[in-house]
Amino acid sequence: MIHSLRFNIQAPSFSPELFIGDQVVKSEHFTKKLRELKCKFALITDSQIAPLFGYALEGFLTLHGIDAHLFTFPAGEHFKSRETKQMLEDQLIAYQFGRDTAIIAMGGGVVTDLSGFLASTYCRGVPLVLIPTTLLGMVDAGIGGKTAVNTPQSKNFIGSIYHPHFIFSDISFLSSLSTTEIRNGTAEMIKHGLIVSPSLFHELEHSHDLWAARNPDFFFSLVYKNSLIKKEVIEKDPYETGYRRVLNFGHTIGHAIETAENYKIPHGEAVAIGMIVESLISHEMGFLSAHEFETIYQVIKSFSFSLNLSKEISEEKIEEFIALDKKATQKKARFVLLKKIGEVLPFDGNYCTQVDSLLLQKTLLWMLKEFKK
Ligand SMILES: NC(=O)c1ccc[n+]([C@@H]2O[C@H](COP(=O)([O-])OP(=O)(O)OC[C@H]3O[C@@H](n4cnc5c(N)ncnc54)[C@H](O)[C@@H]3O)[C@@H](O)[C@H]2O)c1
Repeated sequence: MIHSLRFNIQAPSFSPELFIGDQVVKSEHFTKKLRELKCKFALITDSQIAPLFGYALEGFLTLHGIDAHLFTFPAGEHFKSRETKQMLEDQLIAYQFGRDTAIIAMGGGVVTDLSGFLASTYCRGVPLVLIPTTLLGMVDAGIGGKTAVNTPQSKNFIGSIYHPHFIFSDISFLSSLSTTEIRNGTAEMIKHGLIVSPSLFHELEHSHDLWAARNPDFFFSLVYKNSLIKKEVIEKDPYETGYRRVLNFGHTIGHAIETAENYKIPHGEAVAIGMIVESLISHEMGFLSAHEFETIYQVIKSFSFSLNLSKEISEEKIEEFIALDKKATQKKARFVLLKKIGEVLPFDGNYCTQVDSLLLQKTLLWMLKEFKK
């Protein structure tokens, strides 16, 4: 059974549609939707997904009379770069992909972020179809239209907001994911719980058995619930002028950690630490209770995140990268803060605020003491 969600946003001439189901990319519905675009398809994926699902999808599309060619790049955050984008653009040009092209991005957040950005600039913008294959991609990166590449100085610094026509979240792809990747997606689900849904947070807190057993119904329902949460947030603010910033909870520090670690730490791990530290800031500023801070810390720990920072990381380095965060104003970072589990502070519609530098220093030093091994 395929569940569909239509986004109530104009992007600008269509409303993105999301389809969630088991084996959805093998369905007639999938090929029917692709045909609606009346394009030929550049199917982009990474080197790890190509042998798992990429070549098979290219063959499936060809078998159904859909013109598709597979392009790949090496897997990993390190390759979410301007250089990779340029390499793919050169290949598309060499294969004479013109204005009648649509991009299908099949993969985790690295593939969908990078390919989405490529789609937004190729021939001044061509239609985009996303097939997220990681839990993180299904519950977060594939939804909302944010696209980007990293630079050595800052995460996701160059990119666009470009909505896909269609997103196909095929739950069957989750079965080949490692526990580490499931955990990475879980970090973003915990975030959704913390910012808007106490019931989701407490469901995660109490469902370790289903989580560890990879129960398919449980994961289907999580993908559905989290997609709905993200859809509702972005419908209120499709181009990030205010409210959508709530999705950045845990990410100001999380992104600084990723950059300081030279993108060698998984995104979900960095966000897990970021959420603990930003919850601590929320508590130290008198918003979040000590009890709720402790609950958040324990729930994150209970999913066995490694919560490890490397020896080389210093407080100064993290502060330097925090100042480069995209929400920063006058070189001062702004943080999304929690009032309680499931509620973010509005700060006059900005949904983020600057933090006193002494308090920031104090919490970063606590972070290093707690997590540097
Ligand atoms: N655009 C957004 O709104 C948004 C939101 C959150 C995160 N992100 C971005 O997402 C990225 C992280 O995404 P990710 O965690 O999916 O990482 P990823 O894309 O690097 O994928 C993780 C690894 O899993 C492999 N993989 C993917 N699907 C697989 C499958 N089904 N079976 C086996 N292996 C599989 C990949 O090849 C890769 O090696 C970061 O760059 C982050 O900035 C974007």
